Amino acid sequence: MTEQLLGEPAAGRRTKILSHLDGRTPGRSLPGALYTDPDVFTSEVELLWRRRWLFVGTVAEVPEPGDYVTFDVAGSSVLVIRDDDEQVRAFHNVCRHRGSRLVTSGNGSVGNLVCGYHSWTYATDGSLRYAPQLSPEIDTTCLGLRPVALREVGGLLFCSLAAEPDGDIDLVADQISGYLTPHRLDRAKVAAQVDLVEEANWKLVMENNRECYHCEGGHPELTCTFFPTWGLREDQVPDRLRPDHDRYLLAEADLMRRCDELGIPHRLIEDLVDRPLGFRIQREPLDGVGESFSADGARLVGRLLGDLDDPQLGRCTFHSQPNAWVHLLADHVVTFAVTPISPDRTLVRSTWLVHEDAVEGVDYDLETLTAVWRATNEQDATFVRNTQLGVSDPAYVPGPYNDAERNVDDFVRWYESQIRSEAQEKGGAR
Ligand code: FES
Ligand SMILES: [Fe+2]
Repeated sequence: MTEQLLGEPAAGRRTKILSHLDGRTPGRSLPGALYTDPDVFTSEVELLWRRRWLFVGTVAEVPEPGDYVTFDVAGSSVLVIRDDDEQVRAFHNVCRHRGSRLVTSGNGSVGNLVCGYHSWTYATDGSLRYAPQLSPEIDTTCLGLRPVALREVGGLLFCSLAAEPDGDIDLVADQISGYLTPHRLDRAKVAAQVDLVEEANWKLVMENNRECYHCEGGHPELTCTFFPTWGLREDQVPDRLRPDHDRYLLAEADLMRRCDELGIPHRLIEDLVDRPLGFRIQREPLDGVGESFSADGARLVGRLLGDLDDPQLGRCTFHSQPNAWVHLLADHVVTFAVTPISPDRTLVRSTWLVHEDAVEGVDYDLETLTAVWRATNEQDATFVRNTQLGVSDPAYVPGPYNDAERNVDDFVRWYESQIRSEAQEKGGAR
């Protein structure tokens, strides 16, 4: 955090976001300005996005030494690279000479990192190897790429732009690693990656993902296997969905038994409100055959992940705030990384992972593998675009959440408490 950001303008913005939060009614959607005001967005970048642990991608995206991906968030670009010692590291994607972006493509593979401007050359561990005609008295050991904190958790990669990142990632890792490791992301490969820019505030994108109140009518492809009563408590299930819910309960009991036999964790851990890295993880059944996101629930990839030999493991779903949700199935994994672009534009990056030895056209068909979530993402993009238009309308008044939206309420409460605690720490809070 630079000193300038702590000056008067930043304090003024913090006062503004806090006053919008003061105006919120608990149990209702947020006031419109929190989704539209550019000053709110700037404060969120300062107080959340530059301080929290952010989901970047997976180890499968950088399988070999020299492989890299970049992760751009709110003006910062992070370079994630596997070095020659097999370690995955992250650096600011900024040349130590005069600041050129070092890597300009989203991903690739390099021997060394060579800046396109004056050819300063960095090793894959970030050290400066070569700087043409640089005076010998300049200490090049101090001119390595600036590191960014990076943690791997069961193959998921998280970075933090904070100078002193909080230690919450280690506490979360202890709780979730066991759910992730059976899927062996370190032995997976990227089958497809799709970037979708949604015309909505990042919070609307996350909120939309936290409920399935809209699934029954809105996601015909997804509800083939995603039970329509997801998120409903027993007493909230409407009569017309009772047969679906009864099927869910039977499938759940079967999945629990199956997981217990295999020693695979499945119980719900939900810690969405009170910790910096709010998260939820649970293994849940899929409808139909119970194997994958297909029309009848049958597997989409012939070769299962890692050493799994039971295809009927439902979906292990991990969600973390502010920016991720992940579905881990026996045959493939889909990850979603959310990054804000502006108050009303958000990038959603979807990545499909399959076993590293699975062969396209033999073990899976790419079109079929990605069909459900490509359709679902487009439908969600429409929902959140329409919501952005509505919350920007002067006529918008925040409405009440119902019980199926309790994770949305959790997200909003997390957002408020994180903003308040960070604003307080930096002064200007009330
Ligand atoms: S800015 Fe990178 S070598 Fe000059
Ligand atoms: Fe949706």
